[in-house]
Order: sequence, then structure tokens, then C-alpha cells
Amino acid sequence: MDDLNGRTAFITGGARGIGLGIARACARAGTTLALVDIDEEALAHAKTELSGLTRTETYVLDVRDRQAYTRIADRVESELGTVSLLFNNAGVYDGISPAKMNYALWDWMMGVNVGGVYNGLQTFIPRMIEQDGDCYIVNTASAAGLATVGTGFLYHASKYAVVGLSESLRAELARFGIGVSVLCPGPVATDIVHNTQRLRPEHAPTHSQGGAAVLERAHESLNSLGISIDAVGQMVLDAIRENRLYIHTDEAVAAAVKARTEALLSALPSVLDARRGMSAGTDERV
Ligand SMILES: NC(=O)c1ccc[n+]([C@@H]2O[C@H](COP(=O)([O-])OP(=O)(O)OC[C@H]3O[C@@H](n4cnc5c(N)ncnc54)[C@H](O)[C@@H]3O)[C@@H](O)[C@H]2O)c1
Repeated sequence: MDDLNGRTAFITGGARGIGLGIARACARAGTTLALVDIDEEALAHAKTELSGLTRTETYVLDVRDRQAYTRIADRVESELGTVSLLFNNAGVYDGISPAKMNYALWDWMMGVNVGGVYNGLQTFIPRMIEQDGDCYIVNTASAAGLATVGTGFLYHASKYAVVGLSESLRAELARFGIGVSVLCPGPVATDIVHNTQRLRPEHAPTHSQGGAAVLERAHESLNSLGISIDAVGQMVLDAIRENRLYIHTDEAVAAAVKARTEALLSALPSVLDARRGMSAGTDERV
């Protein structure tokens, strides 16, 4: 997709963090913005900032709420025009210990990180097909959706699901003229750790003192080592223009992805058989 000028973008988690970085990059490209978030106050700040650059409207939505999602999509399309850019970006992070796992936390994290992405897809893909394509979808996963590094088993599970959805839909949506990318950021300087703690559901387990300290260190490391939201926003727009499936922000996960891929391949009996066959063939030729 070459020209983003004049299009309408629907950006979940658009009030701050990576969503705001994407919104800024879209605004510079002349895209009209529908910023969608659960946090009304943060949305108001984003609107004040971005309205000077492009037409920007804000919508309060919990991405888990399917009925409300459809209502908001209808409102956006009647107020701002047909959505041809969808950013399923809203997400939460919580590195709870497996010793404290519970259903409330699972339902919430999968509900936001996977259900929220799915609700965006279910809402907009039929509309995009109906308008004959020329549309683009970016789903925000994480480097944590490509290999397991460190803690956060719930987060890993949710982000692997987003990678799988994106890879598979990219292949299936190409014939409708709809492009799909999956954003797999490494550390980005945002307040996701603190924001998530504010949003956690009532019956989620509380972190132990050690667990809370680990989270605080994660927050500090994101904000000391992480790249800026503006750099990520620009990478996302470049990937859309070049129609690239994977959007990585650094190479930090490379060794873990390589180790995982090698472990997967070496565990495949058919690959071993094929290797045996190949070496038998080589021997024959010799
Ligand atoms: N920051 C990182 O290092 C990093 C790395 C990899 C992936 N990610 C992913 O990037 C995405 C954005 O994260 P971020 O770092 O910008 O975090 P952030 O907390 O700065 O922004 C996330 C936004 O999503 C909103 N949100 C949360 N739950 C919501 C819900 N139910 N409905 C609607 N909005 C909701 C929050 O209010 C917030 O404004 C997430 O999917 C996250 O998992 C972040």
C-alpha cells in the first residue's frame, strides 16, 4: 500500500504508547484518525496533540466488548469514512507466577490481547472485503510471540496466538486485496507495566513482593533500554508501504527464535527421515 494520505485508520490502544506512536506516524502521512482506547483521559490528551496535524476523533471502547465494538465501528465509519487501515494494538502485560495462576487473569489477558484483536478482525474484515480490498491490517503481537524468553507465560500464550492469526490471515486475505502485518516489538519505552496494573480485573491474584519487584524491574528496563514509540510508528508505516509480514524493532530475540526453530525441526520425525533419505541418496550417487 503506497498512499496513506486521506485514508481512515482505526487504532486500538491509540491513546498512548505504541498506538500513539503509530497514530503520530499516520498523522504525518495525512491519515484521518479514529483513536480507540479504554482510557478516556489519555484519549483526550492524544486528541489535543494530534488534532493540529490531522482530523482526529476519539472513542472509548473496551476491545473485549463485541457489541460495543460494532457500534463504535459504525460510528467511526459514519463520522470519518470507511476504515481501510486497522491497527489491533491494545494490550496488557502481566508476569504472574504459575504458582498464582487463576481464571480471572487468564480470561482478562486472553480477552484483551487475543479477543480484542479477534473482535477487530471480525468487525472489519467483512467490511473490507465488501469494499473490494485495498486495505491493511496490523496486529500488535510481541517478540514474546516468537519465542519464550523470561517470565510471562500468559502473555507469551496470548502473543503466540496473535502471530498465528496474523500469519494465517495474511495468506487467506491476500486474494481480497487486504494486507496483514504482525508487529513483534522488543522493548519499547512505554508505561505498559504500570498501566496494566491499574487495569487488572478485581479477582486477579496479587503479586508477591518478589513478583512486584520483578515487574518494577521490567518497567525500568523497558524505559531505559526500549526504543521510542515514534521509531516504532515509523517502522510500522514503512512495513505497510512494503507489505511486509513481520515487523521487528530489534534483533534481541534472534537467538531464542533460532534455538526454538532448531528444536522444532530436530523434533520432527519426517525431517529426520528425509535427512536419512537424502544421505542415502548421496551415498548412492557416490
Ligand atoms: N512496550 C513494549 O515493550 C511492548 C513490547 C512488545 C509488545 N508490546 C505490545 O504493544 C501493544 C501496546 O503496548 P504499549 O507498550 O504501547 O502499552 P501502553 O500501556 O502504553 O498502551 C496500551 C494501551 O491499550 C489500552 N488498553 C488496555 N486494555 C484495553 C482494553 N481492554 N480496551 C481498549 N484499550 C485498552 C490502554 O489503556 C493503553 O492506552 C500491546 O499489545 C503490547 O502487548 C509492547
